[in-house]
This record gives sequence, structure tokens and C-alpha cells, in this order.
Amino acid sequence: MGLDWSQKNMNEFISIQSSKRNLLFTPGPVNVEESVRKAIAREDICHREKDFERLLLSIENKILQLFEIKQKDNYRAVVITGSGTSANESILSSVVGDKKLLIVSNGEFGERLLEISNIYNKNTFHLSFPWGELLDERAIEKYVLENKIEVVAMVHHETSSGMLNPLKSLGSIFKSLNVKFIVDCVSSAGAEPINLEANHIAFCSSSSSKAIGSYPGLSFVVGKKSEFEELKKIPAKTVYLNLYKFYRFITEFTQTPNTPAVPLFYALEQTLANILIEGALNRYNSLLTKANLLRKGMTTLGLHFLIAQQNMCSILTTVKIPSHVAVKELRLLLAKKSIIIYEGKGCFKNKVFQVGNIGDLSFEDINYFLISLKEVLQSLAIKPSIVKIENKKRDLLLSY
Ligand SMILES: Cc1ncc(COP(=O)(O)O)c(C=O)c1O
Repeated sequence: MGLDWSQKNMNEFISIQSSKRNLLFTPGPVNVEESVRKAIAREDICHREKDFERLLLSIENKILQLFEIKQKDNYRAVVITGSGTSANESILSSVVGDKKLLIVSNGEFGERLLEISNIYNKNTFHLSFPWGELLDERAIEKYVLENKIEVVAMVHHETSSGMLNPLKSLGSIFKSLNVKFIVDCVSSAGAEPINLEANHIAFCSSSSSKAIGSYPGLSFVVGKKSEFEELKKIPAKTVYLNLYKFYRFITEFTQTPNTPAVPLFYALEQTLANILIEGALNRYNSLLTKANLLRKGMTTLGLHFLIAQQNMCSILTTVKIPSHVAVKELRLLLAKKSIIIYEGKGCFKNKVFQVGNIGDLSFEDINYFLISLKEVLQSLAIKPSIVKIENKKRDLLLSY
């Protein structure tokens, strides 16, 4: 039996993937730095021995430095073996109890917070804004007041659109209303400056494999010590992701409750050390320079962006797909040049593609990306789309 178009192209895609070094222009996973690649293969240790305790404390200390926490005694960070969602699920299952929690969303990842909270918290409220549009701060304040909301959770960098939601202004509103503020920083930590103290953030989550620059598989939660202590009073709703248990294990035993993915901890420690050596602010400036180069280059190619540049994060650009281009074909042709980009999700499916600039991508790589994108777009402008031809063939067959 013959393969259909998508199967054939998928096979071709897979063989391209296995033969060359990919340049991951995605919002994560990333091309890890050589030092991180080496770190993952460090010597074997037992996680119930002092070696691991030193590793865990070193990671915690570095995470607190990354978040520029001045009063180190007031904050703690716990590391979870699991991707970014596990840190979000740990917070949302462990912090709310019977309180009224509002999820504010303007994209896919805000809606995922809602999906998690609906499972654990019967008093979940939702204030939804259109995907790719700014949050209305006055509307949020009004909603919180009218519904006597006690906890608010939202995404910092809404990766589905590339929108960076404001922490400062919302943090100050929630502080004045005495509302607990929870933030998903999965795709912004390690890139954007995030000040937990100044922005009244009780807990935030992030993951190892995005702007932090390591392998997928670890996530972490940073929070105020006083907030962690309060969790003791809340009955557990999960075993594996119980946030209080993580806090108790790190404070009492310098351990994780269950078996940690030790090699990933080595890699996380190395990437955090790399960020701190470079300086968090220098790193942010370097990422922004790369993002601006990509944006300038893509604008020159006649492409348009989904949101205004001043609302974008420093790690990602969401680009509208030109009308003559099919995103699958664009991705395939770029993959042939070893470049990997993202497709749009949800209502942005087939409408946008996404170009990240995190991980070990050099200025030469960015240049190569822009030249390749130009060639691919030119070839697609000349050639009628393969997808369109295949669709026509299929329609012709179906008409018999
Ligand atoms: C903002 C945000 N939150 C949560 C997640 C989920 O993270 P993971 O897929 O690592 O579980 C992602 C993933 O892209 C994200 O971008």
C-alpha cells in the first residue's frame, strides 16, 4: 500500500532529523551548551547521599540568585522531576485549598492552568481574554473585587502568542487587594528579569528546558518561605506533586521526596552556573539582541508579526504565515536545512509559525536562519505549493 503525502513527508522529516545537527529555533527544547551536554554524563551518585544534597542546595542557591532575591532567608526553591506542567500542577494542587482562585488567561498556556485547577479546586474562576491580546488590568481588578477572589494565577510569557503579560502592575494591584499571586514563568525564567519580591509573587514555576537552557525533564517552584509554611494546613490533593512535601524534604533532609533524575540535576546546575557567570541582565540583553536581529530580518523579508514588538518576550517571535505558504511545507523545507521552527496552536493553527532564539544559537546561526528562510519563501512563491497540488490530486480522485 502506498504512503500518503503526510506519511511520506513525515518519513523524510524523520530521516533529515537523524542525519544532521538541528538548529532548534523553538521556544524550547533548546540546543544545550557543550558544558551542559558534558555535565549530564558526570559520575554516578546515590541521591540519598551527601553528594546529591550538595547538588540540590547548589541548584536552589543558583535559582534564588537568578530571581535576584535579596532576602534569601525568606524564599525557597524546590526542584521537581517532571516537565513544566508538573511545577504548575504542584502549585495549583497544593496552594489553593478551598480558597477562591481566579485563572486569568489570554492563550493556550493560561487555559492549561485552568484545566489543572478545575481538577483540583472546586472554587476555580476564569477570566479569559482573546488569544494574543493584552490583559485588561482594570477588568481583572474589578473581577477580583466583585468575586472576592483570594488567589490569582496567570502565565508570564504566554508562549502560544509570544505575549509577555505584565507582572509589575498586576503585582501591585494584588498586593493592594491582599490577593496571593501565582505566576507560570515556564518560558520566561532565564530570559526576562523576574523580581518575585517587588512583584508580590507568592509562588512561580519554571522548567529546565526553555530559556534556562538545559534538557527537558525538570521543573522548579520558587516561593516565599511563609507561603510554603502555610501549605502545612492544607490537606494534600496529590501524592507525587504535593508542594508542601517538596518543601519539607528540602528543609528537613536537603532531599527530594522521590527518586530525582540525577543526571538532569547536574545539567540544570551547569546551565544555571553559566547564566550567573554571564549575568542575568547580560543574558537578557543578548537574547533581546538576537530576537531583534531575527525580527528585523523577517520584516525585511516582508513578514508580519502576530503582536506588536513592544509586547513580545525576548525569546520568541510569532509570525503570520503568508497566504501562499502552507506551514507544514515551510517547516519541512526548513528542516531540510536543519532548522526547526514551531507551528501555531489552537486558533493560531495554520495561521502563524514561531521562531525562538534561546539555547546555544550563535549570530551565525541566526544569519543562516534568515538566509534559509528567504530561500524557502522564494521557492514557495515560485513553485505552487506541494500541499495544494496534493490536495488537488486528492480532490480529483475523490470526484471519480
Ligand atoms: C508558558 C508555559 N507554561 C507551561 C508549559 C508546559 O510545559 P511542559 O510542556 O514542559 O510541561 C509551557 C510549554 O511550552 C509553556 O510555554
